[in-house]
Amino acid sequence: MSKFDKLISRFHTDSVRWDKHNKDIIPLWVADMDFETPQCVIDAMTKRLDHKVFGYTHAPDHLKEEITRYIHDQFNWSIEPEWIVFTPSLVSSLYSIAQQITQSDEHLLTLKPVYHHILQAASFSNRDFSAVPLETDNRRLILSEDGLKHYQQKNTRLLLFCNPHNPGGSVYSHAELNDIAAFCVNNDIVICSDEIHCNMVHAGHQHIPIASLSEDIADQSITLMSLNKVFNIPGVGLAWMICKNKDIRKKIQAQIGTLIPDPQIFSYISTQAALHHGELWRRELVQYLENNKKLLQTHITEMQPLELYTMEASYLAWIDCSQLRTKDPAQLFLDHGLALQPGSMFKQDDHVRINIATPKSILSEALNRMHAAIDTLQG
Ligand SMILES: Cc1ncc(COP(=O)(O)O)c(C=O)c1O
Repeated sequence: MSKFDKLISRFHTDSVRWDKHNKDIIPLWVADMDFETPQCVIDAMTKRLDHKVFGYTHAPDHLKEEITRYIHDQFNWSIEPEWIVFTPSLVSSLYSIAQQITQSDEHLLTLKPVYHHILQAASFSNRDFSAVPLETDNRRLILSEDGLKHYQQKNTRLLLFCNPHNPGGSVYSHAELNDIAAFCVNNDIVICSDEIHCNMVHAGHQHIPIASLSEDIADQSITLMSLNKVFNIPGVGLAWMICKNKDIRKKIQAQIGTLIPDPQIFSYISTQAALHHGELWRRELVQYLENNKKLLQTHITEMQPLELYTMEASYLAWIDCSQLRTKDPAQLFLDHGLALQPGSMFKQDDHVRINIATPKSILSEALNRMHAAIDTLQG
């Protein structure tokens, strides 16, 4: 039995995901995991808790150097510690970046479908923006250079990008990233690349930070990363922005410590412990997620006419329900005891997103409920 098979009740823990519905519903919507964070993280937080004094706290002295080494080891990308800017959450950074990097008369590009906060960061910015529809290539969702060119305007200043992609699950290849980077460099467009899912890439794929491709693209990139997702600590988490360009960096840190609070003690402690001691756990996690993915694939194949996009990373799977005889697939599944993230959240109403970061026994029961829901439409 794997440690990830352990059933842990999250009801009445103020969990956003589990406390929304009653006990009869399996909630596989919001993107956190039903797994215990690794013992090294718990030990480090317990030790700090025992000190019993929780005053204002700055980042541990060597944390930036440790992250720099980690990024080199994981992605073969050489950065400098001073390129790193800490933030308590990626989401607030997205909203801040959309405003700080653009003038009020400039235009932004983002993607569709995409993580709703990325889309909202564009729409809340009070700037003109376009969401470039992703293309489906062999059941992979990708952003093409043609799509970018089509929606680009003379005053386009920023691209809000996501790789690995949420909700699609694609991990962009070197060639795909090169095209996007070339487009940004040739058109003087800053790219903000949300790479929060980068530490959960499945076998056969490799995460490449777009900023690592060349000096030119590094000079106009903001890369967003965090261990919140992979070590399941979004409730205490820490995130960081990596930005080589000094002028851009100055802009993106303008609201940290003012409108965006500084991270807090346990954010630093948990991330540092995971960086030091979490690698084995991380690998085991990815293996478990891949096994759950296989289970999902087997079931979805049997659930005609549903179609699953190729899932190359993380634990979020995007399911095309457009051929189902219902206008609201999420409601159909909810009526059968399974809460999924409605596609409308990502501007694609006839799709749903499922979170498979749950013990296999829960996922199996969820998939049985999906079968039952589909069966009601087949008669
Ligand atoms: C692409 C993406 N970015 C950011 C976040 C959230 O980041 P944070 O919890 O650090 O605000 C998520 C969470 O699902 C996500 O999928």
